[in-house]
Amino acid sequence: MTAQRIDGNALSQQLRAEVATRTAALKLKGITPGLAVVLVGDNSASQVYVRNKVKACQDSGLHSVLEKYDASMTEADLLTRVDALNKDPSIHGILVQLPLPAHIDAQKVIEAISPAKDVDGFHIASAGALMTGMPGFWPCTPYGCMKMLESIGYDLKGKHAVVIGRSNIVGKPMAMMLLQKNATVTLCHSATKDLKAMTLQADVIVAAVGKRNVLTADMVKPGAVVLDVGMNRNDEGKLCGDVDFAGVEQVASYITPVPGGVGPMTITMLLVNTLEAAERLAA
Ligand code: GUN
Repeated sequence: MTAQRIDGNALSQQLRAEVATRTAALKLKGITPGLAVVLVGDNSASQVYVRNKVKACQDSGLHSVLEKYDASMTEADLLTRVDALNKDPSIHGILVQLPLPAHIDAQKVIEAISPAKDVDGFHIASAGALMTGMPGFWPCTPYGCMKMLESIGYDLKGKHAVVIGRSNIVGKPMAMMLLQKNATVTLCHSATKDLKAMTLQADVIVAAVGKRNVLTADMVKPGAVVLDVGMNRNDEGKLCGDVDFAGVEQVASYITPVPGGVGPMTITMLLVNTLEAAERLAA
């Protein structure tokens, strides 16, 4: 069996078209959803990410501002900017690009963002809302993974989902979202004793470690659904995920490729969250 690919570009296109339609409807009510993206320093990967986020906003009709600051910006100055954006009525979502320079306490900056504008879903209030099933913003990457499962009509009820990686941005919120859909969830990490024994039981596997070949074909139950959140480079310098795609594709029923899988979904869900922040205000 060769797995069907879940095409993150195609699904993103579809969801972004819906965002554009809802944005146009909101504009008729006099509200243009607005996202502020704040970049401190000159991390080259971050520069590409923020450019893509701003462009995606423009393409879907959202207002966006990109604020770029020198790496020497003080924590106090950044907190002052966040406070101003919290109060800015043209801004519905605030995203401070990570990583921040070492002299700035990233968690402190995230906690300074108003939870009503926390479209990254990184604030502890957002994490708490997800954990307790209250309304709030979900982190974009795991949210995108849930949309991918939804797109194939996958019913998680009673299924065993194994998440590999326990980051605050992907692994932990991913586990909560899968749990909310009534999956039995196992969260694996670097201290997990026998990862293969875990993944072999899984109906759904989410690999979110940031290391190549974390998941190989011998670790996957035939017919499992595999979502690959990894973004790595192989020996030839080509983009690859955490999953040994060529091998696992022969065993899984569905699989997300890298590139063109989960990656585009992250920005798409950022647009969705920003739109929803604006819609909540209009309701
Ligand atoms: N750095 C890498 N990914 C992300 C993200 O999704 N949000 C923010 N704020 N920073 C990031």
